[in-house]
Amino acid sequence: MTDNAPNSGILERIRTRQARVGVIGLGYVGLPLAVEFASQGFDVTGFDVDHSKTSQINAGRSYIPDVPSATLSAAVLAGKLRGTLDMSQLGEMDAIDICVPTPLRKTRDPDLSYIILAVEAVAATLRRGQLIILESTTYPGTTDEVVQPMLEAKGLKADVDFFLAFSPERVDPGNQSYTTRNIPKIVGGVGPASTEAASALYATTVDRVVSVSSTRVAEMVKLLENTFRAVNIGLVNEIALMCNKMDIGVWEVIDAAKTKPFGFMPFYPGPGLGGHCIPIDPFYLSWKARQNGFECRFIELAGHVNASMPQYVVERVAAALNTVRKPINGSRIHLFGVAYKRDVNDMRESPALDVLELLHKGGAELSYSDPFVPELRHNGRMLRSADLATALEPPPDCGVICTDHSLFDYDAIVKSGTLLVDTRNALKTYQSPTIFRL
Ligand SMILES: NC(=O)c1ccc[n+]([C@@H]2O[C@H](COP(=O)([O-])OP(=O)(O)OC[C@H]3O[C@@H](n4cnc5c(N)ncnc54)[C@H](O)[C@@H]3O)[C@@H](O)[C@H]2O)c1
Repeated sequence: MTDNAPNSGILERIRTRQARVGVIGLGYVGLPLAVEFASQGFDVTGFDVDHSKTSQINAGRSYIPDVPSATLSAAVLAGKLRGTLDMSQLGEMDAIDICVPTPLRKTRDPDLSYIILAVEAVAATLRRGQLIILESTTYPGTTDEVVQPMLEAKGLKADVDFFLAFSPERVDPGNQSYTTRNIPKIVGGVGPASTEAASALYATTVDRVVSVSSTRVAEMVKLLENTFRAVNIGLVNEIALMCNKMDIGVWEVIDAAKTKPFGFMPFYPGPGLGGHCIPIDPFYLSWKARQNGFECRFIELAGHVNASMPQYVVERVAAALNTVRKPINGSRIHLFGVAYKRDVNDMRESPALDVLELLHKGGAELSYSDPFVPELRHNGRMLRSADLATALEPPPDCGVICTDHSLFDYDAIVKSGTLLVDTRNALKTYQSPTIFRL
């Protein structure tokens, strides 16, 4: 674009790092992003409605495992990053990234209320030249059907007076190999000036920006990625149930299949889906598809299989206890790991909660260990994580590895001789009649 193009001002401010960047929603997505922008030399303000988050940021303390406190506090001490509850400061920002939650309602319909509140706050102080980017995962059409009219309500025009884009967040919490910098960023604007401005901003923090032709394409990319995972996990979970019936070890099958150098990608069975994305995002897509008279059969079927996995884990526990003539009722059952995946503290939608509930209903005496989750509310009472020595002395009647944290001492767990149901293949290298794999 030329010097008098509508976006030349924001492009120049990004290039010279003079752009002030605001990030709304300082959770698993927003905080790493804010720190990354600050480390690239931008002046960053993080906005949240949660006082404990903004005050921890201002004290230089991180509450997200992927963000080291040292990195956060260096940015805060250098005056490059601060947290605030004061949304009126949004008008001072040149670029604003919206990273608020997008949960489902009880009816499994999208809950856009967080996006709407955040966009209302942006609209209240919107001014010429600002770049607004939505990062929250949502259905195709949210940016141009919902966000754009709210921002244009006072007369400013998108792609001319201000710039608006959607850029899905692809962060994988706990992944050491792929982080904000080396995960390519998809960007789709409401017009070319918006795409260019948003791409320029991300090009400062990520190695590769992939621009697409519209906000709807960018929104759909994210939902395709997460639906692809949900459906493939559903498939491999069904294969695991099938293999069990045929007395075939599913893990060995997957390990062998993945030696094929093309046309196969390994997915692994487990106790069920967890986290804020994979169990939820496909239903954003099926909701939008229904509005257009289309039924997403793959999504529904995968959801059905994946939701049945906690019950299957309980069946494996019953089978394990059966070998020593014990019922679930009255047995002491210990869960190793309750977070939704390895080495994170995130409990959202964790399948361990369903496993706990089903075992509780079956009359088990329950306890758990999780180095990332010190306490857990279950059925109105607080459970506290037991250290491994306490958990194994005396050994429980049965242990269930729900999350394969790398901090667990698997040697000690196996040596305790307790019956073990391993839902993650964490005990791959161990052979013992006390181990029951998924
Ligand atoms: N966690 C992930 O791994 C991940 C990965 C990719 C995409 N996403 C998507 O990113 C979005 C954010 O997810 P997250 O995991 O960071 O959520 P989160 O719950 O960890 O953080 C969201 C933050 O937004 C704040 N917030 C809520 N309403 C607000 C408002 N009106 N104004 C300011 N702040 C507000 C909350 O207090 C919270 O701190 C979601 O759409 C999610 O689907 C998440």
